[in-house]
Amino acid sequence: MSNTLNIKETARQLGITTTTVLNWEKQGYLKPVKENNVLQYQKHHVLRLKEQIENGEIDRLANRANKKNSSRRFVPDEYSGKPEEIPLIEKIIEIVQAHELQVAECIFVLCLNRLVYEKILDALPLAELLKFYNKSSISENIKQELNLWQLELDIEPNLEAYQELLDLQINFSGDLIGTIYQSILTEGHKSKEGSYYTPSELCENMAGEYMNQMKGQMKILDPCCGTGPFLIAAGKQIRKMGRLIKPENIWGYDIDPIAVKIARINLMILFRDFNFNPNVYHRDLIYNYTLDDKIHKNRKFDIIISNPPWGAEFKVEQLSFLKENYPSILTLESFSYFVLIGLNLLNTGGFLSYILPESILNIRFHKDIRQFILQNAKILKIFNHKRIFKNVFTPVIRLDLQKIAEHNKGLPIISNGTSYQINSARFQRNIDFVFDIYNTDRDAGIIAKAYSLNHTSLLKQADWVLGIVTGNNKELLSKSPKKGWQHILKGTDIEKFHIKNPRHWIQYDKDRLQQAASLARYKAKEKLVYKFISSKLVFAYDNKKRLSLNSANIVIPKIPGYPLKVIMALFNSTLYQFIFKKKFFALKVLRNHLEQLPLPILKSSSIKQIEKLADRLILASADDELFAARFAELDELVFNLFGLLPEERKRVISEVAINSNLQD
Ligand SMILES: C[S@@+](CC[C@H](N)C(=O)[O-])C[C@H]1O[C@@H](n2cnc3c(N)ncnc32)[C@H](O)[C@@H]1O
Repeated sequence: MSNTLNIKETARQLGITTTTVLNWEKQGYLKPVKENNVLQYQKHHVLRLKEQIENGEIDRLANRANKKNSSRRFVPDEYSGKPEEIPLIEKIIEIVQAHELQVAECIFVLCLNRLVYEKILDALPLAELLKFYNKSSISENIKQELNLWQLELDIEPNLEAYQELLDLQINFSGDLIGTIYQSILTEGHKSKEGSYYTPSELCENMAGEYMNQMKGQMKILDPCCGTGPFLIAAGKQIRKMGRLIKPENIWGYDIDPIAVKIARINLMILFRDFNFNPNVYHRDLIYNYTLDDKIHKNRKFDIIISNPPWGAEFKVEQLSFLKENYPSILTLESFSYFVLIGLNLLNTGGFLSYILPESILNIRFHKDIRQFILQNAKILKIFNHKRIFKNVFTPVIRLDLQKIAEHNKGLPIISNGTSYQINSARFQRNIDFVFDIYNTDRDAGIIAKAYSLNHTSLLKQADWVLGIVTGNNKELLSKSPKKGWQHILKGTDIEKFHIKNPRHWIQYDKDRLQQAASLARYKAKEKLVYKFISSKLVFAYDNKKRLSLNSANIVIPKIPGYPLKVIMALFNSTLYQFIFKKKFFALKVLRNHLEQLPLPILKSSSIKQIEKLADRLILASADDELFAARFAELDELVFNLFGLLPEERKRVISEVAINSNLQD
């Protein structure tokens, strides 16, 4: 059997046109291989992508691809926390653009400006400053650093521009040069390298927590330190602790040579009373890691703190190296390599604390790294930080691990001020090793009850149809009916048990649409339609053969003796909302989630009773009191089916009502 597919077969598999295949190839989702001079696509890549589309991950990929090509610049004011610095930063960007200065040059001169500000260099005329001829006693190491940097720049200095940068009256505090550097980089660059730096307060919390627990000397590393916010935080902590921990014990690596230079200067200034050479190196952690290297080989650390790159890009030629050297990472996700390498670089008993996207906890895609964590570390804490990076919309968590062989029970979770303990041993038993942290042990008991009845599920017992992706809604959708056009549902047209009156129409022409199933699949005699982009389960019944857009997906259950309306009623009920929310805490209703929901084997009398109630709910208008009364009746019936105790019912209702899902 061939391992490759041609372009047409690929398009068919993915439900897209051949033009979209080529587009996706340009955006890097698909990597072609040439066979007998014909473009082919690896079958397993295509099938993997298909799974991602079905899981709703393609939107995320598409967003990423757009960002990676963006030449927009913006000031990451959440990093410095000082919006008043924005005019100054904008002025610097203006100077860089007007004189076509290289970023490295600009940063070099700003470092000189800062060294003068800190009174480490004398305020001499520029020409002299550039020779580092100084009256004040500048440390040998700083002198060497600047000399080397200037040599590396290897360009004729643009004295006029340099003077303008040097004349700027800057009130340097924190890692202002890091903020400026981030602001000069384009969004595309930041997204490709995954470089969004962490606000200092967060870095200080993370550094402080574990440094305080360690006795004696300790080695601290940020394996992708950027301009060094974590290194500065560790340095400040050393100062605070008043113990003699040598600044050489703070280590940093980064693939970005300019960021490394800024980090080195930052540390040299923080420890200006030490003449030392910071252990901060320009290094690609993923590729150099296995090389025999005198400084780095066999070096282990006690504390590793960072915000590793998320979704950084790898080149095609790097892929085989990654697969060979890190076989347990299947996703090619950059933060997963940093978790794995970080744990490998730790001494036993050492701590790792990372800022990561919340999706590491529950998305099936990341089960590889969850499994690695469960096998190699104890989970100490998970904090929910919601959104902390401007222009990065993903909710963010802090994950703290300890490298030990044996696992401990009890995992404290601190999220939005409420703190509770859960038994992390549960994660080992979860499908895909999901870290379902919003699910307390008490909640887990309720969910276990729902699964304790003999049950079946939609897994392998349903047809799934994705909504249509037009590729151009403006052109291909109409807000009024037209001859030959058909009514199409959007997610917002669907409510529990109801479909709103028609608001959009489309002309179904598969070749013009970016992604569409065959017409026959939308035209099933009866089907369930559900909101796809939603943290809630919202299902309606359709026997009018309506089409749907990609915000509304379709499922046609095929379980003998289990009517569609009964499945709709169960999924719409408060208990199922509770299970869905606690188990998956998802913002999209994925097929894989729905396939995991239990459908209890019921007596035919119960089936009939639920079906009748579903019909009544369909008939009652959504904002009618009657609807509310019937919905309460349904909830009661479902609670009774699973034998929930009064306090369990109360918990379910209140958790769903307060919408305590931290992502909402
Ligand atoms: C999200 S930033 C975080 C920087 C810093 N740790 C912080 O928290 O502010 C990620 C950093 O990873 C660096 N990076 C990306 N790939 C790397 C690699 N293979 N090896 C080392 N550093 C890398 C980027 O240059 C960037 O500075």
